[in-house]
Amino acid sequence: MGVRGGAGGRSVVAGRGEPGARMAWDRTGIAAWLFPWILPRQFTPPSLAIHPALGIPARLCNAFKMLAKVYSAAVLGIDAYEVEIEVNAAGGLPAIIVVGLPDTAVKESKDRVTTAVGNSGFFWAHGRTTINLAPADVKKEGPSFDLPIALGMIAVALNQIPEQASDFVFVGELALDGGVRPVKGVLPIALEARRCGRRAVVVPEANAREAAMVSGIEVYGVRNLRQAWQFLIGEQELQPVREDLDQFFAAHHHYDLDFSDVKGQPSVKRALEVAAAGSHNVLMIGPPGSGKSMLAKRVATIMPPMTLEEAIETTKIHSICGLLDGKNAFVAVRPFRSPHHTISDVGLLGGSANITPGEVSVAHNGVLFLDELPEFKRSTLEVMRQPLEDGKVTVTRAAGTMTFPARSMLVAAMNPCPCGYHGDLKRDCRCSPNQIQRYRQRISGPLLDRIDLHVEVGSVGFDELSGGGDGESSDTIRARVVHAREVQTARYRGARGVRTNAHIGTKELRAHCALDPQGMELLRMAMTDLGLSARAHDRILKVARTIADLAGSERIEPAHVLEAIQYRTLDRNLWV
Ligand SMILES: Nc1ncnc2c1ncn2[C@@H]1O[C@H](COP(=O)(O)OP(=O)(O)OP(=O)(O)O)[C@@H](O)[C@H]1O
Ligand SMILES: [Mg+2]
Repeated sequence: MGVRGGAGGRSVVAGRGEPGARMAWDRTGIAAWLFPWILPRQFTPPSLAIHPALGIPARLCNAFKMLAKVYSAAVLGIDAYEVEIEVNAAGGLPAIIVVGLPDTAVKESKDRVTTAVGNSGFFWAHGRTTINLAPADVKKEGPSFDLPIALGMIAVALNQIPEQASDFVFVGELALDGGVRPVKGVLPIALEARRCGRRAVVVPEANAREAAMVSGIEVYGVRNLRQAWQFLIGEQELQPVREDLDQFFAAHHHYDLDFSDVKGQPSVKRALEVAAAGSHNVLMIGPPGSGKSMLAKRVATIMPPMTLEEAIETTKIHSICGLLDGKNAFVAVRPFRSPHHTISDVGLLGGSANITPGEVSVAHNGVLFLDELPEFKRSTLEVMRQPLEDGKVTVTRAAGTMTFPARSMLVAAMNPCPCGYHGDLKRDCRCSPNQIQRYRQRISGPLLDRIDLHVEVGSVGFDELSGGGDGESSDTIRARVVHAREVQTARYRGARGVRTNAHIGTKELRAHCALDPQGMELLRMAMTDLGLSARAHDRILKVARTIADLAGSERIEPAHVLEAIQYRTLDRNLWV
């Protein structure tokens, strides 16, 4: 196979033996130089540039072989792994070869990097440059290796390999003018750099605060390639960026929304309190404008405050998805995600070519709100079943298999019928029973099975809306929820993976949700007389357990069972 290279439009084809190729090129070049009048118009004479470090014609530097090593890191799943970048310049025809399973974005980096290196006022060895990304058996994605590759190329070109290069981990995408652009996943990268014992991470300035949340490692933000190089060789000092995670967490640990914004709706608020206390999934059914979305947005505000551990886990996912910026460098409050009903399975669960987390994982430790539930594709809702059950989602693609955490509270909302006014006291419903049935059947039974509470949300009247008295604040409700959660944590201490009533298995159900004869009778009546489905049985017991915990009662009283039964609207045949 031939190797193609040459000056201007003229190209010389030679065999694999590169010395032969270079000689052929040199002969053409010298002849063209000596007899310019016979030159083709496009011919450019060979560069006479002098190597800045060695003081000899730059082209001759091809004869010198140089190897530089720079450290970087990349994200795999929700964690990062270190990547060693080796840049080797050797003689030969100009070529840049990137090896080590690079994806398209990494392969393209050679064009960005060479242009950025040139535009930053550096020379790069125009010989055969090999860039190796180790470990070679893991696929490398994205443009975050641009900065370390460029630094390696400058190091070999200037014949100046900084000793301290191994102290640092570099990440950053390069603009053609040498500017450093933000990248995704800086938080897990900083955690990995610390684990590997590196002294500092050098990241794009826009990502510096996010990386600085990791203590025990220095973080430097750079604006451009020249600054990064000068910092690396000790010509320029940079101030490390510092963030006190605990302080930031405490300062940002509040919500802008509050439950007291919602007027009236005491029964719905109570249901949401029960849901938050036991981490139960909940479905709200009501006419348009009744406040379903408004209530859903406030569910996170009554959930127990995020622990630092939960916050770090959630921030890692947001970091990988590129959802953080200078202002929101850390996720200190429970996330609220509301994907549109046109979302694809991949968007919801995660995946795509380079396996990124989906909305179920972005909502991890927070609230996943599916508004207009019947409008979601049935297949999309079906794929939700496994993550809802396991609290994690495993995605398999050509690039590999990845597991992301996905333990969120599902809050869904829907209208009672296509026109939205079935059962409304003020407006007439225009739908036929058949239409209502079809609309309702769009939500699969198995998904409904995973939703513990169904709540009817009626429209609020003028008096309630304009009435002065604010309802309870989120703080007050949250205090009760926190207390109920503490009771559950103590109860399920021995059980693996179970922290709340919503996640208990059959064993815990039998041990902790026993009913007295009166409660049993109520449940039997609900199942037979009200036509509750069999799947409602366990749900009612779990919810009744949470209601008892909220009331501070060791035993599940008949009143708790009664309240739990009324949260099974969709299981009752009365609904249509
Ligand atoms: N209980 C309430 N207290 C105060 N404002 C309310 C209440 N209910 C509704 N609103 C007002 O009505 C607006 C619409 O409510 P929202 O969007 O939550 O309705 P919805 O039930 O989600 O309707 P849709 O079914 O059309 O999505 C809210 O933004 C709010 O201004
Ligand atoms: Mg809505």
